[in-house]
Amino acid sequence: MRVALLTAFVIAALSGCNEPSTLATDTPPAGRGPDPVATTLVADDGEAAKVFEQRIAPIFKSPDPSSCARCHLATVDIKQYILPSAKDTFLALRDQGLIDLDKPENSKILALINRGADDPKAAGLISAKRQKSEYEAFAAWIKACAADPALRNAAKPEKAPTLATKPVEVVRHARKDRMLESFEANVWSMRFRCMNCHTEGTPQNDKLVKEHGARVAWFKKGGPEATMDFLIASKLIDIDTPEKSLLLTKPLNEVKHGGGVKIVVGDQGYKAFRAWIEDVAAIKTGKYAKPADLPPNGTGPKQFGTEAWFKLEKTPDAWGDKLLQADVYAWDAKANSWERDPIATSDRIVFGKGKLWQHTVTLLAVPGSDRAKAWAKGKPSLPAGKYLVKVYVDSTGKVKKDWKVPLGAEEYVGQVEFQGRWLEGYGSMTVVDASKVKK
Ligand code: HEC
Ligand code: HEC
Repeated sequence: MRVALLTAFVIAALSGCNEPSTLATDTPPAGRGPDPVATTLVADDGEAAKVFEQRIAPIFKSPDPSSCARCHLATVDIKQYILPSAKDTFLALRDQGLIDLDKPENSKILALINRGADDPKAAGLISAKRQKSEYEAFAAWIKACAADPALRNAAKPEKAPTLATKPVEVVRHARKDRMLESFEANVWSMRFRCMNCHTEGTPQNDKLVKEHGARVAWFKKGGPEATMDFLIASKLIDIDTPEKSLLLTKPLNEVKHGGGVKIVVGDQGYKAFRAWIEDVAAIKTGKYAKPADLPPNGTGPKQFGTEAWFKLEKTPDAWGDKLLQADVYAWDAKANSWERDPIATSDRIVFGKGKLWQHTVTLLAVPGSDRAKAWAKGKPSLPAGKYLVKVYVDSTGKVKKDWKVPLGAEEYVGQVEFQGRWLEGYGSMTVVDASKVKK
């Protein structure tokens, strides 16, 4: 039964290439009958053109983002599938296989528009209403086109009209679910660097909100997705000059910041925030035209923020006021050696006068590993035990000159073994004597 149907469909589809198919012309075009669109029609003026003018053109001209924006950042908009001329739009969609003339309701463009329409999460969203009207407009128009032999059989023009759509790699990169992954890994995992000053619903933040207003509550209670949505739409990101975004200039204290200096150019926090902001800006300003324009795929470890503080005391004078990075390695009892990759890391400027360095640590795990899965599910933490710290000091200030470069062998100043308890909170730091750090 299914096979027979399928065969019939394939034959119809094949024959549809050359001659009008009976399948589609059997169905009256949308809008006939009580629809006001139909009553104003002059039969051979082309109903499809009318439907286009009345229902598709307004979508094209609308200044509002289309329903696609719910799941795709700026790289995808239904307007990219529309051209000023009805005929060009038809030819472009038809020749890219986005319209099914024999089964208009199966058209690929309709599937793209309708994705997620029945997701309960969409209920009540403005974009859901927009999605429905976009869907209905295209469904009606495609049906009218399919019923118009002149359009169906229009020859492929020599200079085919082209759509403003982006390559699939670019579309995929800017999908919100993908963006969210990168946001969680980069920005969300760095939130403890901002302590709880900006985390909505914490006592610290409640206090600051009373003094400075809701604007300081930008790490949203709703979690990473709510925070990302908020930040992307906020004035904290400057898409034309990303490095001037308040999300960077405030914690740098380049713009006077109530929290003081919380990051420096080129440190892990800066790198993470800056890379994410640059990506959002490039997407929103349409800078990604081809796959080669995309930033390299994140192949590094997954990062998890914690409130466990790590402290190096008695830091040598030579390290004073320099950026110091501490990479922590766990002991692998089975292999009787240190693990190959660091399990935690952090960096910050050494407090020269106080001869100390301290910061919250970010945990690292290979994507897809048991460790990464456990930390994603529960609260990320390190067990008490034997650890090794490798210390890097940027004495030439190289990351200030180029925020993208990592610290490496040139900055290595030594290592030391220690016992880590890794309790949470400023009052329960894991402390190491930095004078014991040796090459
Ligand atoms: C509810 C979320 C959602 C909405 C709304 C949505 N998309 Fe998508 N879109 C996705 C997902 C998820 C994928 C990847 C699907 C897959 O991999 O099978 C995707 C893939 C695509 C692709 C193919 C790229 C690829 O991965 O091969 C295009 C083109 C596209 N969408 C265009 C649109 C357009 C145009 C709109 C608006 C009319 C839209 N989408 C609305 C979620 C959505
Ligand atoms: C000790 C508390 C504290 C810490 C830690 C802190 N901030 Fe702030 N931040 C404030 C206060 C208070 C304000 C409001 C006054 C102002 O605008 O400077 C503020 C304002 C901001 C603003 C401006 C918000 C707006 O909408 O105007 C940004 C952006 C910001 N901080 C980013 C950060 C980042 C990023 C971090 C962490 C890397 C951070 N802050 C760490 C206290 C803090």
